Formats: sequence, structure tokens, C-alpha cells
Amino acid sequence: MPSDFLSKKLTDQQGYDDFCQFLVTICGIVLGENKQYLVNSRLDNLMDKHGIESLVELVSHLKKRPGSPIYTAVVDAMTTNETSWFRDSYPYDFLTEQLLPQAVSDNRSLRIWSAASSSGQEPYSISIMIEEFLRHKRRTLNPVNIVATDISHAILNNAKEGVFQKMSLDRGMSLARINHHFELVGQSWKIKNVIKQRITFREFNLLTSYASLGKFDVIFCRNVLIYFSAETKKDIFFRIASALNPKGYLILGGAESTANYTDSFDVVRLKSGLIYQLKE
Ligand SMILES: C[S@@+](CC[C@H](N)C(=O)[O-])C[C@H]1O[C@@H](n2cnc3c(N)ncnc32)[C@H](O)[C@@H]1O
Repeated sequence: MPSDFLSKKLTDQQGYDDFCQFLVTICGIVLGENKQYLVNSRLDNLMDKHGIESLVELVSHLKKRPGSPIYTAVVDAMTTNETSWFRDSYPYDFLTEQLLPQAVSDNRSLRIWSAASSSGQEPYSISIMIEEFLRHKRRTLNPVNIVATDISHAILNNAKEGVFQKMSLDRGMSLARINHHFELVGQSWKIKNVIKQRITFREFNLLTSYASLGKFDVIFCRNVLIYFSAETKKDIFFRIASALNPKGYLILGGAESTANYTDSFDVVRLKSGLIYQLKE
């Protein structure tokens, strides 16, 4: 990207390096070299709005004001919230074909964590699968509690609201499912309460302690570790292992793996993907 496309306040190398270092510390995201254009496109307006003239000044401002509106806005701006409904399908087949039938036969309740839930497509897809399992199999299942967390305040608010545009539903949601699980409100589609009521939404940074979340039977930690360093991945796998019940499952994104980071998990091969199970 030619430097004349970049605003002057964002081209200073020292400022860029400071900002990258600060971002790793607060949310684990590694930007890497030559991503000035990304920082430029995401922060230029925000810095103008707050009268901040350089990245050095921005970092110093943020360090003094953790949790302030501008701090939250920077985290919101720097996270990538790309997601879709029933993403990759195999995690959802695993729920209906293995996990839920097993929970019925064991007569046990389940806790599932969607650990980087973005705008809610992942936890809502999980809840829809549960609803459909109950309807089709005419089974009774003990309560399933889904905890959906994300570091981004703004995206979590969108998720909580549960209102989607048709364009976003077109990314993986069939027409039959739209008609069944959503209500048309004006030009938007609102997820029905029966799907939403299983989910608790909470702002949560994966770099902090997981103790307050309790234990889970399944953790979806999908398409977020790709942004982190090897050291952060190791740390998160260690803490995920401690947050799982015995023989609990970990479901990663298609491009993510535990290999080279932890040996706490066995690989479970499914028809069209693989997931991980905590070793005994
Ligand atoms: C690409 S989305 C993945 C959404 C969903 N899991 C999926 O696979 O479709 C990554 C999400 O991770 C969140 N995220 C990034 N860093 C995080 C952190 N340190 N703690 C918690 N969430 C984080 C972002 O806000 C973003 O919503």
C-alpha cells in the first residue's frame, strides 16, 4: 500500500510498533508487519474524533484509561468479527449425531461455551440445533446452557439483540429455518425467544482467568486463535483444558489445531472434520 494512502499520523514506525505491542497485551491479537493500512482504515476516524494525533499518543492515552469509551472503541475496531451460520457444518452434525443423543441416554444436562461468539451466529446456531433435535427426535433433554462471550462490547451487543438483516442470514441459514426460528420485525429478522433463552451473553477476554465461568462439556473456540501468537495459544489451550469437564470437547476453526501447543487432547475424527477431546 503506497504511503500516500495512509494518514500521516499513522505512518510513524515507532507508533505502529508501540500500538502492535499494546494490542497483543490487551487482547492477544498479533498484527504482524506492514499492516499499517489496516490500522489506518480502522482507527483514522476514531483518532480524529478524539483529537489524537499519533499512534504514540493513542497508546499513551489508552494505557492511562483502561476500560474508557475510547479503549473499548479501539478493541471493537481492531477485532475481526467475520462469522456465519452453521459455519463448516461438522461441529453442528457432531451435536445432533453424538453429543445430544449421548446426553439423553446419560440423562445429563450440558454446558456449552461459545468463546468468541462475534455477532451471535455461533451460539444461535448451537441453540437452533438443540431445538431441532428436540423437535425431530421428540426427545426430552435436560437443560442445555450456552455461554456466549466475546471481547468486543459492540459485537456482543449486536449478538444479544439477536436482530439480523436478510443479507447476514443468507450466509448459512436456510429459508425454512428463517421462517421457523425468526420473526420479521420491519425489514429485519429477530431470533425467537425459545432459541435465545438458552444463551447467556457476557463480555469476556480470553486472556483473563476462566475461573468465574465454571466448567463446560463443550467449548467452541473457533477462528480466534489464528490471530494469536504461539505463546498465547499455548496459554489458552492450557486454560481451556482446565475449564472442561472430564472428557469434554474442544471445537476449533478449520484452520486451527492443538498440534505443537498442547498434548492435553485426543483428536476425534468426524465424517468431515476433526474435534478434540480432553484426555482422561
Ligand atoms: C472471526 S470471529 C469468529 C466468530 C466465530 N467463533 C466463528 O467462528 O464464526 C473472532 C472473534 O474473536 C473475538 N476476539 C478477538 N480477540 C479476543 C479475545 N482476546 N478474547 C475474546 N474474544 C476475542 C473478536 O471480537 C471476534 O468477534
